[in-house]
Amino acid sequence: MCGIVGYIGQNDTKEILLKGLEKLEYRGYDSAGIAVMNENGVHVFKEKGRIAVLREAVDSTLASSVGIGHTRWATHGVPSKVNAHPHQSESERFTLVHNGVIENYSRLKREYLPDVELKSETDTEVVVQLLEGFVNDGMEIEEAFRHTLSLLKGSYAIALLDKENKETIYVAKSKSPLLVGLGDNFNVVASDAMAMLQVTDQYVEIMDKEIVLVSEQSVTIKNLKGEVIERAPYTAELDASDIEKGTYPHYMLKEIDEQPLVIRKIIQQYQDENGKLTIADDIVDAVNSADRIYIIAAGTSYHAGLVGKQFIEKMAKVPVEVHVASEFSYNMPLLSENPLFVFISQSGETADSRSVLVQIKEHGYKSLTITNVPGSTLSREADYTLLLHAGPEIAVASTKAYTAQLAVLSILGAVAAEARGIASEFDLSQELGIIANGMEVLCDAKEEMEQIARDFLSTTRNCFFIGRAVDYYVGLEGALKLKEISYIQAEGFAGGELKHGTIALIEEGTPIIALATQEHVNLSIRGNVKEVVARGANPCIISMKGLEEEDDAYVLPVVHELLTPLVAVIPLQLISYYAALHRDCDVDKPRNLAKSVTVE
Ligand code: F6R
Repeated sequence: MCGIVGYIGQNDTKEILLKGLEKLEYRGYDSAGIAVMNENGVHVFKEKGRIAVLREAVDSTLASSVGIGHTRWATHGVPSKVNAHPHQSESERFTLVHNGVIENYSRLKREYLPDVELKSETDTEVVVQLLEGFVNDGMEIEEAFRHTLSLLKGSYAIALLDKENKETIYVAKSKSPLLVGLGDNFNVVASDAMAMLQVTDQYVEIMDKEIVLVSEQSVTIKNLKGEVIERAPYTAELDASDIEKGTYPHYMLKEIDEQPLVIRKIIQQYQDENGKLTIADDIVDAVNSADRIYIIAAGTSYHAGLVGKQFIEKMAKVPVEVHVASEFSYNMPLLSENPLFVFISQSGETADSRSVLVQIKEHGYKSLTITNVPGSTLSREADYTLLLHAGPEIAVASTKAYTAQLAVLSILGAVAAEARGIASEFDLSQELGIIANGMEVLCDAKEEMEQIARDFLSTTRNCFFIGRAVDYYVGLEGALKLKEISYIQAEGFAGGELKHGTIALIEEGTPIIALATQEHVNLSIRGNVKEVVARGANPCIISMKGLEEEDDAYVLPVVHELLTPLVAVIPLQLISYYAALHRDCDVDKPRNLAKSVTVE
């Protein structure tokens, strides 16, 4: 979602900001802007659409040593030039970019700014106008900034310029992510470290409700009372080459291909010196002392949670519930006496999940975050973290993070089981190794997958995924992948549910992608396929070796039956990729979507 960058120093500010915004493109946005300040004042450039359009609009001769930039994912007001950030106060003294949602902006406007005519439809503009109002009333800028922040309800990450103090970028955050990056004779601000990796790998975390004064030579963090807080920087362990596409046409394809490597890396990262899979004792104790695990997640991560439940329950015999984060807060089930909350989140920033975390912490419940991003909000705020080690995932459609989530959940299940004295029926390291090899085979089958996409999806307006048992959950993920990037209406169903309603939608030629990886339900799912074929459907069956039948569209390499989702999802990712490509869709940046969903 919205991304923020800022730079103060003697290099080419506008170029650093534009490059930073390009690195944030993956988060999803629909307009972008920058503001740079020099002796002649503040120069604002903003455009609807891609950064490339903004780049064209920026005066390439403009010199400046301080500026801020923003990619906007519309929440309040349509995507447009006027709603794009930065926004300025009435006198144009203050210029501000914001990520998040100011829930009480209408009330603030009514109460404090009845006579101010806003230029945009955004919640953000209210913030900058409020600030100017308080300064006009006689407050010093810092006091006015703090006072403004104290009135805001909702979430924010803010970077602010003051025309009358060209030596400082004012920064603050609450719930939305924001970091300060440190350099030699310059400093930067960024929604995530990737944006500014071009200039520094040294970052300082900002905590909620702090304000930070960023100048060329210093970074001063203050708490609500104005007291200075010391905080050591950390090194962002990101490899710049990880965030380049290389020779790949799309990040999504690169990330699909990285999956075998990621699985091998996870095996390595979770092995001790004797090659035994291991997880920190306190995490295993937390799992084993819980009477029930509540998995909280959204989207693809929720689908990983559904499979993870199978792993943990079957291996460690701990009961698990899986909940959609956005529903949980106001739809909380009756909790068990001693729950453990497990948050699954690629980005570690998903606002819906974070809001549950805040809520359950108030009750004193223990929490574990499984994330790809060390230092992310969900990681920092939970009691424990397990990392995915998948490397940055840039394409909006999650692929390698999903399989990494499954691998880490399987390890959690296996290690917890061992600690409970439950003998394992298989060697998980070895099985994950077999999976990595199987993934390689699947990643090499791109031509077959492209053909399947052509045969089944080129002209269809919808597509159904069916499966039974764990295949049902993989089908849900396959449907999400297909709909989000190709815009084909796709839904996943439990094979047995079709006859209870959905089968009414089957028409001549409706594509049905059926998964058949589970021996105990193989005959039943094939029965469901026959039912839809009898009504005209065009079936594409993806089965596991050993369970295949003559007309199956693709046969997966054999892996342990419990772990089949790790391989079964790959054809679905590739088929979705090619279906989107054939329809000329923007595969990496699908419409309306954001990578890091930082609003509730
Ligand atoms: C779909 C996708 C989303 C995310 C969801 C949660 O491909 O990526 O459904 O899975 O927005 O995001 P995280 O995992 O970052 O919490």
